[in-house]
Amino acid sequence: MRVPLMAANWKMHKTVGEALAFVEAFLPRVRGVDGIEIVLAPPFTALDRTGEALAGSGVALAAQDCHAERFGAFTGEISATMLEDLGCTYAIVGHSERRTLCGETDTEVAGKAATLLRHGIRPIVCVGESLTEREEGRAFDRVGEQVDKSLASVPADKASEIVVAYEPIWAIGTGRTASPADAQEMHAFVRECLAKRFGDGAHGVRIQYGGSVKPENVYALMAQPDIDGALVGGASLDPESFAKIVCFAPPEESP
Ligand code: 13P
Repeated sequence: MRVPLMAANWKMHKTVGEALAFVEAFLPRVRGVDGIEIVLAPPFTALDRTGEALAGSGVALAAQDCHAERFGAFTGEISATMLEDLGCTYAIVGHSERRTLCGETDTEVAGKAATLLRHGIRPIVCVGESLTEREEGRAFDRVGEQVDKSLASVPADKASEIVVAYEPIWAIGTGRTASPADAQEMHAFVRECLAKRFGDGAHGVRIQYGGSVKPENVYALMAQPDIDGALVGGASLDPESFAKIVCFAPPEESP
């Protein structure tokens, strides 16, 4: 039984004050939510204070990236030790924005994931094809390659600690979501790739969908057998909207 994992990726949004205002408005809306894991990934600058505000709430804290080395001369970078120190229990790695804008490679992502695991932080490893790759029929090859290479350093006994987020690049911030059937097809494929690497352990790995997830489309996505959660950008910035996503009630029951 995989516990659904609903995560907010705030990207480069929210000052400390804005993050705290979000937490204040959000926590009462998800109080009593049971059997769903909730994660907030604020920018690095708001991690400490957000973590303090979340203490005792059951909502987990995540970073949006991490360096693969434990310490050293890496100006501007943040290590897994530092994230552990702030109480992060998850960290997003290999987001397509970092792959595209910062040239992050699968090998670097694999290094980050391995370091995080050594620090007891669960990596949320992002994969996803571009529009061109999808249109040219290369989506499955691309995603399969990313899964294989980005998880190359994850030992089989740690499989249950990783999360894979399938985020088709063409669906991120565009308002264009993959259909539940298309997303399910890719998620089932990702699980096959995981099974080749981890055997039965693949059944315990949560695979999130990301890309224009909203209160209106989350229920249909979460109804798919291999979609185990959502990684949400834009719609996670508003406490009411993200609370609705977390609960993924059928549209007619949505509060
Ligand atoms: P949007 O939900 O804004 O499309 O962003 C998705 C994403 O990139 C989450 O990591």
